[in-house]
Order: sequence, then C-alpha cells, then structure tokens
Amino acid sequence: MKDLAAHVRSQFPALASGAVFFDGPGGTQVPQAVIDAVAAYFREANANEHGLFATSRRSDEIIAAGRSAMADFFNARSADEIVFGANMTTLTFHLSRSLGQLLQPGDEVVVTRLDHDANIAPWLYLQEKGAVIRWLEFHPEDCTLDLGGLERLLNKKTRIVAVGCASNAFGTINDVSRIIAAARQVGALTFVDAVHYAPHRPIDVQLLGCDFLACSPYKFYGPHSGVLFGRREVLESLRATKVRPSAAAIPDCFETGTKNHEAIAGIAAAVDYLAAIGRDLGAASGFDRYETGRRRWLKQAMAVIMEHESLLFTRLLAGLQEIPGLRLLGISDPARLSERTPTACFTLTGLSPAKIAESLGQENIQVWDGDYYAWEAMNFLGLGDRGGAVRAGLSMYNTGVEVDRFLETLSRIAR
Ligand SMILES: Cc1ncc(COP(=O)(O)O)c(C=O)c1O
Repeated sequence: MKDLAAHVRSQFPALASGAVFFDGPGGTQVPQAVIDAVAAYFREANANEHGLFATSRRSDEIIAAGRSAMADFFNARSADEIVFGANMTTLTFHLSRSLGQLLQPGDEVVVTRLDHDANIAPWLYLQEKGAVIRWLEFHPEDCTLDLGGLERLLNKKTRIVAVGCASNAFGTINDVSRIIAAARQVGALTFVDAVHYAPHRPIDVQLLGCDFLACSPYKFYGPHSGVLFGRREVLESLRATKVRPSAAAIPDCFETGTKNHEAIAGIAAAVDYLAAIGRDLGAASGFDRYETGRRRWLKQAMAVIMEHESLLFTRLLAGLQEIPGLRLLGISDPARLSERTPTACFTLTGLSPAKIAESLGQENIQVWDGDYYAWEAMNFLGLGDRGGAVRAGLSMYNTGVEVDRFLETLSRIAR
C-alpha cells in the first residue's frame, strides 16, 4: 500500500513550515481543497439563505451538499438529521436546553468522569430542572470506563445517557455500543461525543443506534465548526429554542441564526477529501459491500488512516516507554492498541507539562499541555492542579521521521 503521509503531505500547505504537528487532537491542519472551497464560497456564493437570486441559491446548494456529506460521514438515514453549529460545545448546550424540557424532577442523567467538559457541563445544567446526575467512573490504571458499574447506574428514571466515543486526553475508545444498548433497555436517550473519535475511526449512527452524536470538523481536516446528528423522530419531537420567524422544520429549527456557510462549504470539501483517500488508497472490506459511493470510500479512508496511525503510534509508544521518568496515562499495552486512538498523554518527573510543551515548541514541535478540558478526569487523577499532562496526538499526515524527531527531542529535554 502507498504510504498515506507521503500521499497527502503536499496537499497540506501548513506542513511546508517544517513544524511537527502533534497537536491534532486540538485541531488538525487543512488540505488545499478545504481552503479552496472556503475561498470559493466567498468568491462565488456569498449571501444569506433562501433568497431569489443566484448567490443565495448557490448558498442553499452548498448547505444542502454539506448536509449530504455529513450524512454520509455519519451514515445517517437522511440529510435532515444533520444540524450545523458553531462547534460541538454550543450544539450540546443548545440540545441540552431542548432535552431539559422533557425532564421531571428526579429524572436521572448519566455522564462519565472521562469525558471532555463539553459532554458534561451542558448536562449538569439540567440539575436546575431537578435532574439527578449519575457518574460513570473510570479505572485510573488504564483510563478505561468502569463498565461493571454501568447496569447499577441505569434504571427506569434514567432519561439521558451522555458518553464519549473516545477520550481526547488519553485516547481510550469506549464501548459505546454496549452503553447505548444498555441505555435503550431502560428507555433513555443517548448522546455520543465523537469529537476525538471522528478523525480516526468510521462512525455509523445506524449501527450504534444512538439518538444524538456530535463532532467537530476542525478535528478531521475541516474548518472550525460543529455538527450534530439527531435521529429524525427524536429531533422532530423536541422543541427548539429559536426566533419565531425562522424555519420550524428540522434541522433548520435547531440552527439558531445565520449559519457559517463558508465553513459548511469547507466541511463538504473535507469529507470529499477523505473520501478521495479511500477511493485512491483503500480497499473494500467484506463488511461494507452493501455501502456504495462516498460512504464506502469514507470507510475505506478510515481503514487506511487507522493502519497508518497504528504503525506510527506503535513506534511512538515504544519510544516513550524508554524515556526514564515518563509516566504514560491510559492504555499502554501494545497488544491493546485497537482500544485507543493514537493520542499519547504523559508526564515527566521533575518537569512541568507546560515546560515540556514550551521546550518542544521552541524546537518547532507542537503538542498540548494542561487538561484539554478533560477537566474531571485530570482532577480525578490528581493532575488538575499540577499542570495536567502533555498530549502528543498523531494525525494522518504525520510520519515516522517526525515521531523519531519528537522522541529524540523529548529524550534530550528529559535529561
Ligand atoms: C472529545 C471532545 N469533545 C468535545 C470537544 C469540544 O469541541 P468544540 O471545540 O467543537 O466545542 C472537544 C474539543 O477539543 C473534544 O476533544
């Protein structure tokens, strides 16, 4: 198979700077195709929606194309199930306000200790409606959810279960299928945060059976924005908080105010860019024979990305484990790499995470430090008031040479 990074790198103008971008979990770089789509929107289609003139009609088409692209990305049944927003956090707050209207005092909402705060804080606000919050805890040794405690948490009062697909701090991939199935058994609605998962694995909302799932295109080579999938029947049953003259039908009723049209143009371009990778470099597996066109290519792209990132991550992990004083958080067993994304989170004895990130930054290697808003998790691990941890995450454009340069620089900093 052709090397993925070799195939894609020249298409990402930012990579020409020579920096090592291991900050992908905070946001990836974008290919020229996305930059072009955003610029073309301004040149050729810039207008508000639903007008009776050319640029407005073009805007309508671009928004429809964006919905259709994301419907393929999620394997949603229809483009009406796709809601665009400023980012995942805003969409989640907005949705929690609508779902809050369904709750009675004493109803229960399940959140996890492992999640980004964007999948916790919006649900905590439901306490103002009398909701009781139940916490799904995680094992500190490997940062996996304590699913043994799941059935104990759920009961007929559970109305909402909010869970992450993958931890943006430790890379843990959660068994969301199992959690969704258990939540459905008790009649609860399910919300999945797929922000950290989306750049690394294919998403299939029909297979998952979730009611809602959110992600952020700027984490998978697209523009800064957020996208929410909502199951049609559930979206239609909710009351959206909206201005009175705006559309009453889904999905528009959940999109407050003017949308970010240029970002939507870029989202469609990012999805098409990924699909082209699957078409050009991927191979169909037996499982997705029933899928065709862009959906199939997207799955093929994710298989190519997964293979490339796993190889690099194995190298990264082995190198990290050789650095004296380095403590890796999360799953570190090389035999369990399928249970995690290629996102490494670590501390080093005697050096603060900020100092490490700054020293790497001076060498043109970009990593994050702190809690990355996995605030509950970092506090639970006792790292909240100690500067959190360093996070180095791999993306599809990273290379083995970059991994080696990172490891060599980090080893020098650690000495
Ligand atoms: C797992 C996870 N969830 C939610 C968010 C918030 O996404 P947004 O920036 O689109 O609000 C992030 C952002 O880093 C994330 O990594």
